[in-house]
Amino acid sequence: MALKGWARAQAGPQATAPGAASGRIESPVTVEGTIVRVNGPMVEIEGLAGVSLADLVEVGPGRLPGEVTGIRGAIMTAQVYEYTGGLRVGDQATSDRQPLSVRLGPGLIGGVFDGLLRPLARAPDFLSPGAFAGTAAHGSEAEFRPSGRVGSLVSGGAVLGRVRESLAIDQAIQVPPGIAGELRHLALAGRYAPDAVIAQVADVDVRLSSLWPVRRPRPFAERLDLEAPLATGQRVLDLFFPLTRGSTAAVPGGFGTGKTILLEQIAKWCDADVIVYVGCGERGNEMSDALSELRELVDPRTGRPLLERTVIIANTSNMPVMARELSIYTGITVAEFYRDMGFDAVVIADSTSRWAEALRESASRTGALPVEEGYPAELPSQLAAFYERAGRLRTLGGGDATVSIIASVSPPGGDKTEPVTSHTRRFVRTYWSLDRDLAAARHYPSVSWRDSFARDASRLGVWHAANGDPNWLGRRGQAMAILAQADRLQSVAELIGAASLPDPERVVLLTARLLHEAVLQQSAVSNNDAYCAPAKQAALLDLVLAVHARCLDLVGQGVHASELEEVDLSGAARARDEVGRDDAAAVGTIRDSILGRLAGLAP
Ligand SMILES: Nc1ncnc2c1ncn2[C@@H]1O[C@H](COP(=O)(O)OP(=O)(O)O)[C@@H](O)[C@H]1O
Ligand SMILES: [Mg+2]
Repeated sequence: MALKGWARAQAGPQATAPGAASGRIESPVTVEGTIVRVNGPMVEIEGLAGVSLADLVEVGPGRLPGEVTGIRGAIMTAQVYEYTGGLRVGDQATSDRQPLSVRLGPGLIGGVFDGLLRPLARAPDFLSPGAFAGTAAHGSEAEFRPSGRVGSLVSGGAVLGRVRESLAIDQAIQVPPGIAGELRHLALAGRYAPDAVIAQVADVDVRLSSLWPVRRPRPFAERLDLEAPLATGQRVLDLFFPLTRGSTAAVPGGFGTGKTILLEQIAKWCDADVIVYVGCGERGNEMSDALSELRELVDPRTGRPLLERTVIIANTSNMPVMARELSIYTGITVAEFYRDMGFDAVVIADSTSRWAEALRESASRTGALPVEEGYPAELPSQLAAFYERAGRLRTLGGGDATVSIIASVSPPGGDKTEPVTSHTRRFVRTYWSLDRDLAAARHYPSVSWRDSFARDASRLGVWHAANGDPNWLGRRGQAMAILAQADRLQSVAELIGAASLPDPERVVLLTARLLHEAVLQQSAVSNNDAYCAPAKQAALLDLVLAVHARCLDLVGQGVHASELEEVDLSGAARARDEVGRDDAAAVGTIRDSILGRLAGLAP
């Protein structure tokens, strides 16, 4: 059976790899206990001698996987990641006293997995429980190309060889963290099963894939300063609220404000090497749609299917609730695995609110003291610990690599003062707040320029200046000032009528409208607009600012604002769609023709 197959993967000598890293060097001994209480997904077990928090347990005849979340005397509580219906008091439970781990190795790229990183069969058409492919070590045999030297001294992070996962990802097979010594044996080039031993370091066997405990951040050499942007191809993000590579962003927004679409856009177009997309508690059919779409899309940088750089973890709303909690950590662990090979990885999670609901459910069933709206007291520290796993790092292997985290928050009723949103806001560096009114007006992406923030904007201005765009920060500051001024003027205009405003202020309103239509709005379904290259982004914003300057100039020369408002500026908004994704020159031509038309008004 599927579950047994998975359970077997946890046993055997390969389970010592993470054990060695964690200092738990005893070889696994299976202990047995008895279920004394079943409370939904929480199961109480008596008699599992010597197990620790976060250890894997298997309960009942189906050997359902669970994790120890509480120990009181001889009774321990396990959170079970499968449906517990049919489980009975008196059923047996076993544990190898090893932390709950996932198998990391070849075969992840392009795949779809559940919260325990078990392959989901028949995805994307059938994202439902019980559909596990059930191979202990997933993936077929992989072609291993050795590159280490037998007899040399190696330690965690050292590259022993490579396996090509896709054209974009040539995966390094590395010495797992915590293992060091003489490389005594290295397998010859050839095809190997995922759990085949491919090297021996001191007296530890290193396999093609190895286990890692999901709750434990993978070690690195040192943290590095954040410097470069993670370009998303979405103008409102890259121009106004940019994210640094290795940093964190949250996307809070009520139902239907466009969180999932925005996250999918980022998954498709951001310039990272590896995307780990965690669908956590959201609708399964959306996930299936997204998957089929990813299959067809081509990465503009490599010309290959985008799926070839993507790992998908699906714990949709129709799957066991507790596994949502785990899937977030599984996603980060997979991203860290690729980071350790030197890649820039991004974790995209939709939604952390569903994850927090799982926390709340487990807390309420174990009688933990609820603090805010039923959430346990450790909600803030859990959120902080999650976002802390992002970063730009020097890896154990000496590489410079990043994990960025982008996660949505779905506050009930869109109320952003609720606990998950407000705590998240404190921990992230970038905040893309989705606005209900903008979404209702079909202004997409509905990222609010009032409530959003990017703590690293000035730092990124320095990066842009050093990388050929000295005007980046100035352009942003000017546009933000126009948007803020227009918002203030708008409320005045509603009282006294826009026609009563002084001409220069009417120009501000005109420019802000142009900013909305030509820059901030971006269609996820237009071939040319879905992704906007940095040069075209800058050209569009330059166009609007040039029109602004020209209009102010004309008003100064005595031209009436009403005359300016008559001029057809729609070419600017159409440029988004009609001009190629990176055709800044064509945008420049449109700018010149608009400026020419305006110049014709000069007295
Ligand atoms: N960038 C966009 N371009 C076009 N339509 C969008 C865009 N963003 C959102 N939408 C529209 O809004 C709807 C709801 O978006 P969705 O991401 O599912 O919301 P949420 O995840 O916040 O509930 C989508 O079905 C789509 O019609
Ligand atoms: Mg959604």
